Amino acid sequence: MVPKAELHCHIEGAVSPALALAQAERHGADLSEIVVDGAYRWTDFTAFLNVYDTVAALFRTRDDYARLAHDYLSSLAADGCLYSEIFISTDHAEQTGLSPHAYIDGLAEAIERAKAETGIEGRMIATGLRHGGPEAVERAARFAADNPHPLITGFGMAGDERMHHPKDFAPAFDIARDAGLRITVHAGELAGAESVRDALDHLRPERIGHGVRAIEDPALVERLAEERIVLEICPASNIALGVFADYASHPFNRLRDAGVKVTLNSDDPPHFHSSLANEYRIASDHFGLDDAALKGITRTAIEAAFCDDDTRTKLL
Ligand code: ADE
Ligand code: ZN
Repeated sequence: MVPKAELHCHIEGAVSPALALAQAERHGADLSEIVVDGAYRWTDFTAFLNVYDTVAALFRTRDDYARLAHDYLSSLAADGCLYSEIFISTDHAEQTGLSPHAYIDGLAEAIERAKAETGIEGRMIATGLRHGGPEAVERAARFAADNPHPLITGFGMAGDERMHHPKDFAPAFDIARDAGLRITVHAGELAGAESVRDALDHLRPERIGHGVRAIEDPALVERLAEERIVLEICPASNIALGVFADYASHPFNRLRDAGVKVTLNSDDPPHFHSSLANEYRIASDHFGLDDAALKGITRTAIEAAFCDDDTRTKLL
């Protein structure tokens, strides 16, 4: 089994339809419009975000999140994953009345238990939601900055990239960076090359979530390679959300061939009928990567991981 590593998975997006239905039953919620024939149903990115929020609202306790993250990390480990970073969202916790401290505590317990049982290393990246606006993202950054946790090693921003301008979020990212958190940001998924360039200029990330639409501008691709920016590429997500029509037109190989550092990630796996192992399979079947190349992708991810150097050395 090829060793794997993942830098980009949203914990609220990792809830299986079966678990969502079980939570709905406990809380008397109706998911009949959302889970159809055992699969999530949505039509476009906006509808996807609504389904995502509805499912997240069913996770209301520390233990709900501990179980979710433990199940997710255990399944990753069974698939040969050595290292995983999960995006967390204190906004989603607070929307259900769960204290962000209890949320983080449950997630941290899961990371520690999964490590004790399987050896998998996990870290958390605190995120703000772009469609929540600059003030909400700044609040998320300030919470992360004011409540340091050894397993929260980065700050990022997810959500609707079509809203607001990266410069609006510069104060939030400055707060996170000044607190020692490492920076990634979603860009170049729902918007094009300019969105990636603006994110680089204003938010100064080491990594970009997705970034795939940088392919629309050769000068930007060159810049990504030169500045050694790592792309957290999520192939199944890109196809499911219609960012590219099919794997044949996906730019994974064009970016890699141009010298851009690329990694493989599952984003919100059950929503896209995927898993990290499936992303590696896609890279083999559709992008033609052999086992040595796949191991190289894992190495790139570990080199770019937001972890301490001792952990990195142990994993490499
Ligand atoms: N949040 C969860 N999945 C996302 C994605 N693919 N893009 C932006 N925000 C997200
Ligand atoms: Zn994402």
